[in-house]
Amino acid sequence: MEGSPDLPPTDPEADQPEANAGNSAGSRSGSGGVNLEGVSKRFGDFTAVREMDLDIADGEFFTMLGPSGCGKTTTLRMIAGFEQPSSGKVLIDGTDVAGQPAYKRPTNTVFQSYALFPHMTLEENVGFGLKRKKVGKAEIKQRVANELERVGLSREAKRKPNQLSGGQQQRVALARALVNLPKVLLLDEPLGALDLKLRKGLQVQLKQIQRDVGITFVYVTHDQEEALTMSDRIAVMNEGRIEQCADPETVYERPATTFVAGFIGVSNLMPAVASGPNEIKLDNGTSVPTPDAARFSTGEKCFAVIRPEKLTVALEGDAPSDQPGVDGVIESSLYLGTATQLAVRVADAVSMTVLVPNASEEERQRLPGGGAKVRLNWVPEHMHLVAESPSGPATDPTPTANVTEGVK
Ligand SMILES: Nc1ncnc2c1ncn2[C@@H]1O[C@H](COP(=O)(O)OP(=O)(O)OP(=O)(O)O)[C@@H](O)[C@H]1O
Ligand SMILES: [Mg+2]
Repeated sequence: MEGSPDLPPTDPEADQPEANAGNSAGSRSGSGGVNLEGVSKRFGDFTAVREMDLDIADGEFFTMLGPSGCGKTTTLRMIAGFEQPSSGKVLIDGTDVAGQPAYKRPTNTVFQSYALFPHMTLEENVGFGLKRKKVGKAEIKQRVANELERVGLSREAKRKPNQLSGGQQQRVALARALVNLPKVLLLDEPLGALDLKLRKGLQVQLKQIQRDVGITFVYVTHDQEEALTMSDRIAVMNEGRIEQCADPETVYERPATTFVAGFIGVSNLMPAVASGPNEIKLDNGTSVPTPDAARFSTGEKCFAVIRPEKLTVALEGDAPSDQPGVDGVIESSLYLGTATQLAVRVADAVSMTVLVPNASEEERQRLPGGGAKVRLNWVPEHMHLVAESPSGPATDPTPTANVTEGVK
């Protein structure tokens, strides 16, 4: 479904439903819950989606997050009806939609390429599907006006797509989907084609629009920050599986696996074994008490995760003695404006990232530089244990993320 933004590659409206066609302007009814039960999708001998179970609540902003090729679009296409599962069930609003074509489902999809008709005005673009479905003129006018107002483009209604910015064009694509009154809106990297600043602005607007409309959004992205900002819940996917499904805070603060820890934020994984129900032993011999160890059997391998902003760095001798810590050597120091990012090697294969807020210039000047021997400390409750993912830790998910290398 990719294509030039100014030429509809396929007619998106042809595949899109007219849910609740008889309803008066702007009203949506019913529940937009989506359930996947053991859904798999195979392409020949390749499995793109494996035994996926998912319960998305009505009105939820639900995000599927994961690296390229992990099966996000395939999952979305099965919900939309553009693709049929090889096995398992898709339920929308409690109804099994097996065999139901896309245009009969109460879903609409917004793609990365907005595929607007270049020769039509915005209002003609938004009203096109309704017109083809023979909805009355007055109703079309009202519904189109409502949606253009919702996305903040009423004044531009008579313009053509080439007289709009990329972000405005994507808002038209959104209005064109919402005008069909779907119960579930499926969005596949809708902001992917936009530059960073525009993306940020539209993230906030999209979230606001979702709150206003109150329908279920199933949102696909490989951008962890976008997922954390917008979602009620996030399913972190890897190789066709969901590794964790939880609210943004849980996914960030208490990742379930090494993959999730690395994909969301900076991984900072230290290999360890559970040395008892209330204690782990890091590979460098340090014992750290933690109730988290109860999730592992004694002797089982695990990884301790500590987020970069939760670590403190001090020269040997100045470090607090009442906190767990590890020794290391500063490998690099990067000034980021609001913070300084240090890479500290604590073992041959383990490098930890530390983020030190730039609270004052004086403190920043005092930070040890490259080559300095330091001790990293943390308070025990900021350490969280994760199990190794079946596929190992994440590799660099985004250009900005910095993932601990070589922890195996
Ligand atoms: N029609 C197809 N035939 C064969 N393989 C396919 C087909 N569609 C998708 N795949 C494969 O399935 C896997 C998942 O693809 P999918 O498009 O769902 O990934 P994605 O998570 O959306 O990735 P991206 O972030 O790059 O869009 C990929 O390895 C892809 O090559
Ligand atoms: Mg995709």
